Amino acid sequence: MNYFNMQYTSGAAALGAIAATAIYYYLHPKNENLIRTWKAVGNVTKLHLHPLKSGRRLELTSADCTDVGIRQNPEDQEGLQLRDRTYLVYGEKNNEFKTARTFPQLLLVQMSVHDKDQIRLDAPGMPTLLFKVPTKLKNKELRVKVHQSEEIYSIDCGDEAANWISNYIHGDSTPGLRIGYHDGSMKHRRNILKIYKSFSIYKNLTNKSAGLYSDLSAVLLVNQASVDDLNDKLREENRVVSENFRSSITIAGEGAPAYAEDDWEWLKIGEAVFRNVKPCTRCIMTTINPDTGVRNPEREPLKTMETYRRLKNQKPNKEREIITTMGISMEVNVPGVIRINDTVYIA
Ligand SMILES: *[C@@H]1O[C@H](CO)[C@@H](O)[C@H](O)[C@H]1NC(C)=O
Ligand SMILES: *[C@@H]1O[C@H](CO)[C@@H](O)[C@H](O)[C@H]1NC(C)=O
Ligand SMILES: *[C@@H]1O[C@H](CO)[C@@H](O)[C@H](O)[C@H]1NC(C)=O
Ligand SMILES: *[C@@H]1O[C@H](CO)[C@@H](O)[C@H](O)[C@H]1NC(C)=O
Repeated sequence: MNYFNMQYTSGAAALGAIAATAIYYYLHPKNENLIRTWKAVGNVTKLHLHPLKSGRRLELTSADCTDVGIRQNPEDQEGLQLRDRTYLVYGEKNNEFKTARTFPQLLLVQMSVHDKDQIRLDAPGMPTLLFKVPTKLKNKELRVKVHQSEEIYSIDCGDEAANWISNYIHGDSTPGLRIGYHDGSMKHRRNILKIYKSFSIYKNLTNKSAGLYSDLSAVLLVNQASVDDLNDKLREENRVVSENFRSSITIAGEGAPAYAEDDWEWLKIGEAVFRNVKPCTRCIMTTINPDTGVRNPEREPLKTMETYRRLKNQKPNKEREIITTMGISMEVNVPGVIRINDTVYIA
């Protein structure tokens, strides 16, 4: 290649790069800061979808990351796709949500897709229940009270689902539990800032961070090395699995030693880009075995985590509290498909 050609080619390459950048900015006007140097730190090892809040996981090989959380990939699940934490159990009397914190056996309720318009519920000792995805035209709309008295939009799933879940938890249908559904409509997105902005550990949250019925953010990531490190500190009978931490994404890799995730800011996996918006604060739920629904009698692993995974939080009323963390809560900045074994990049 002569000098002219070389100049011409590098000129064309430069023009191409400028054009690509311009197209990128055009497509992602709000994400101009996403042109970064990415470093591979590990791989995706597990993708878990929890369609029912506090319910059992579905194990996926790929997932579609949407603004409000992961969803089954239409390539793997035709017709109807379940989305993370779109259903929840609530009390009929006061519309307050119920979780495995009070009813540990909820952890064994498996929700899955039956066909193109029916959801399936299974639990130990219960007949399978099929019900249609509720719609606001046919079912009652309400607001369910969750943490911090936040109220979130919901569509009731009907009497059959209500009787089924009440029978499973209470053995009869009288102390009325019901199931609510979030259709994901933008009109009903949460204003989490109103409630959480004044907590000191939540400074990086935005309204866009919110999931549907997740405690707070759209996606939770757990690093296997951190779980392994915790297990090294626990007696054998108290050891846990990553499933105790109910993440959507579990990762492992050479560049991801225990707790490295605490300091990551941006992550890229497959087509998707995420921002770490806060550490995930941990509660008694981590002490319940995810496969048996039985609580650890010694309150492990929380007791041990409280000794070395502590963070100070200052609440709006100036009250200080010590919180315990594991994993990171992420906001989805560029939605897209992610897969098991995808490389995890950080910047
Ligand atoms: C957050 O969203 C709510 C509505 O969903 C809106 O009223 C509020 O102004 C938003 N806050 C910010 C800071 O964007
Ligand atoms: C917010 O994000 C910045 C940049 O990643 C980080 O340095 C800071 O510690 C974060 N603040 C909180 C309270 O998490
Ligand atoms: C991802 O997994 C492959 C295969 O197990 C491994 O060779 C590679 O080192 C992993 N990547 C990172 C960044 O750890
Ligand atoms: C992930 O990679 C491992 C080998 O590193 C392989 O055994 C496994 O089948 C892969 N899983 C998927 C879902 O591709």
